[in-house]
Amino acid sequence: MTNNQNSWFNEARFGMFIHWGPYSVAGRGEWVANRECIPKAEYAEKYAANFRAENYDPAGWARLARDAGMKYAVLTVRHHDGFCLWDTRTTDFNSVKLGARRDLVADYARAMREAGLRVGFYFSMADWYHPDYPGAFCRDWPQAWPDEAARLRFVDYYYRQLEELMTRYGAIDLLWYDGCIPSPTGGEAINTRIKQLQPEILIANRNGRPWDVQCCEQAIKAAEPGVLWEACMTLNDNWGYHAGDDNWKSAWHVIRLLTETAAQSGNLLLNVGPMADGTIPAESVRILKDVGAWLRVNGEFLPHSGRSPYTWNNWGVTTVKENRIYLHVFKSTGGELCFADIKNRVLAARLLADGRSLSFVQQGNRLFLKGIPPVTGAGAMPFIIVIDVEGVPETLSPQTSFWIAG
Ligand code: GLC
Repeated sequence: MTNNQNSWFNEARFGMFIHWGPYSVAGRGEWVANRECIPKAEYAEKYAANFRAENYDPAGWARLARDAGMKYAVLTVRHHDGFCLWDTRTTDFNSVKLGARRDLVADYARAMREAGLRVGFYFSMADWYHPDYPGAFCRDWPQAWPDEAARLRFVDYYYRQLEELMTRYGAIDLLWYDGCIPSPTGGEAINTRIKQLQPEILIANRNGRPWDVQCCEQAIKAAEPGVLWEACMTLNDNWGYHAGDDNWKSAWHVIRLLTETAAQSGNLLLNVGPMADGTIPAESVRILKDVGAWLRVNGEFLPHSGRSPYTWNNWGVTTVKENRIYLHVFKSTGGELCFADIKNRVLAARLLADGRSLSFVQQGNRLFLKGIPPVTGAGAMPFIIVIDVEGVPETLSPQTSFWIAG
């Protein structure tokens, strides 16, 4: 693990995860081959061959990500189904030989870079299509390799794929591993090689050392201080496109998740699951646009946010940066707001959205802020109060998290 706190990653804070592949044709989530025990030939014929990407517009994806306030993207260049979205020499099960008949990764990397976004590759080591990978239909991850020769063949295969990915598509900023099971997967040797090929790349922590970013899924679990970390989340209940899943998070919910990760100096990698033709579902687009509109006004807290020393309270979330404290007010009936336990002397307070300065009184361990607007109505967006303090924000007493108010 490297200590790289000034990295672009900490400046970014918000990224777009993109799950896209033959499973998008099925429209029943990215585990469809495994859940339905679909034979390889049937999967290739019914889904891979029909994964045509007719309306693939990675520049459009990049625009959407940027408008949402995202700074990087991570595309599933190979998911567990083993289908490669690039022109690989290692297998014919790829998007140039089947379906789209183009190198989707090349177009993605170019478009993201041109839009000023950092380029990430999600790479599943697990591969349900490869003859040496155990457990295409396992109800859980396979626990062992069939034999050492199979394991070595498989490791050589995925090493060659990563060599291609790391040498053909320019600078890659993030390699996001998944499904690195069963062990041993030989991660250290390939990661060392990748660092030679791409000296600036950040590698996620699932395939041995060296790694740079600690990841958690569908949960906010901060890493130790000093370690780059990221929480990834779905926008509904699936990563890959699922035609029957309408359980969308609201823009409010996304903002809450983004605020909570930022409060602990982490990133949120938020997923979209484009349809097989490349179109991002309309509901995802709408939510991301709403988040972006809010961030354009309120996003100051995000780049390089620090670790907030302040625990839970009854109005929202606290983030910090340098000598500033940001009170993210999700719940307020308006009037006066009390923020307890700041050690620092408060110099000024204002509303971030319109810059209106707020009068305040600091009495011992209590700060009273006046003229606070209400947050009314279901789904009403939070607002932010910026407090300038003397020195780095500190608390007066040790903080606990024995119960976090919703
Ligand atoms: C899990 C799933 C996978 C998904 C990933 C995203 O590991 O197996 O389908 O891509 O989470 O974080």
